[in-house]
Amino acid sequence: MTNNFKSVPVRSSEITSKTDYLSRRDFIKAAGILTGTSLLAACAPSVTDPVSNMNSGVTIPSSDGKFDELGNQANEYVEITNYNNFYEFSSDKQAVASLARDFKTEPWTVEVYGLVNKPKTFGVEDLITMYPQEERIYRLRCVEGWSMVIPWEGFPLSNILNEVEPTSKAKYVRFETIFDPEQMPGLKSPFYVWPYQEGLRLDEAMNDLAILATGLYGEPMPNPNGAPIRLVVPWKYGFKSIKSIVKIELVVEQPSTLWNTAAPNEYGFYSNVNPEVSHPRWSQATERRIGELGRRPSLMFNGYADQVADLYAGMDLAEFY
Ligand code: MTE
Repeated sequence: MTNNFKSVPVRSSEITSKTDYLSRRDFIKAAGILTGTSLLAACAPSVTDPVSNMNSGVTIPSSDGKFDELGNQANEYVEITNYNNFYEFSSDKQAVASLARDFKTEPWTVEVYGLVNKPKTFGVEDLITMYPQEERIYRLRCVEGWSMVIPWEGFPLSNILNEVEPTSKAKYVRFETIFDPEQMPGLKSPFYVWPYQEGLRLDEAMNDLAILATGLYGEPMPNPNGAPIRLVVPWKYGFKSIKSIVKIELVVEQPSTLWNTAAPNEYGFYSNVNPEVSHPRWSQATERRIGELGRRPSLMFNGYADQVADLYAGMDLAEFY
């Protein structure tokens, strides 16, 4: 994963055109200008496309009253939807929102198959009505050392897995993103083995924290964040949270993943957030919350140890990075 920790100066010409639906103060705050962070901040969100796939005229959701269980306020909608890793569109985080603006997400189905008794293909609209959509305000910690707090909407991944009934042979779950070169210019990159794939051990996938997210801030999932449905596994580095899923396969072998295939020494299969185990090119001890100056300590399992540490009892967490 490229790590472009460079300052992102914002020209005033870039911030005037699309501000009709944001108050100038909110807009400036979202752009990191209010606190003067834009010149210092590695990860200042782009201001060129503040509403991703929302229509102008729509009210931007407010972060008022949105806190995670540790008391961290959610990042602004504009931040969450304008600073994205979505390599199928671009490796430039600030280019994703505009490149994904017209991404077609209807109709959309998710095929769940493999070592299951009842394979099934679900329409996303059915998943949204079949399972109550819960709000989960989670921290997202990218392996590159930045983080956000995001109010997702979705449902436990275990719901859909229980529905298809994994057989006793199933040990892992493999996820696959749509492969659509006509819509996704980043797929031309020869550096990666497409489609984007990820995987979890079956017991990790059944943990209640693992969700399939269909929206954020009460809105349908914005395109840059993985519309219409993506995985969110908050105790792992963000690259495990695969976007725009079309296939979920129950398998016996540990699946290969895009990042592990691209750089096996840098990105493991487990990839649990662990401040004590450095990435080969940078420390993981601290992180920069988007919108903040300075860095804060990173937390073991991204702060979710109580819910997930048992999954790794007896494992050497450094070896199984
Ligand atoms: N899923 C797909 N299909 N393609 C990607 O490039 N990037 C991952 C993950 N899921 C990625 C993906 C990475 S590196 C991160 S940090 C998160 O998505 C970012 O999610 P966000 O853009 O919603 O913050």
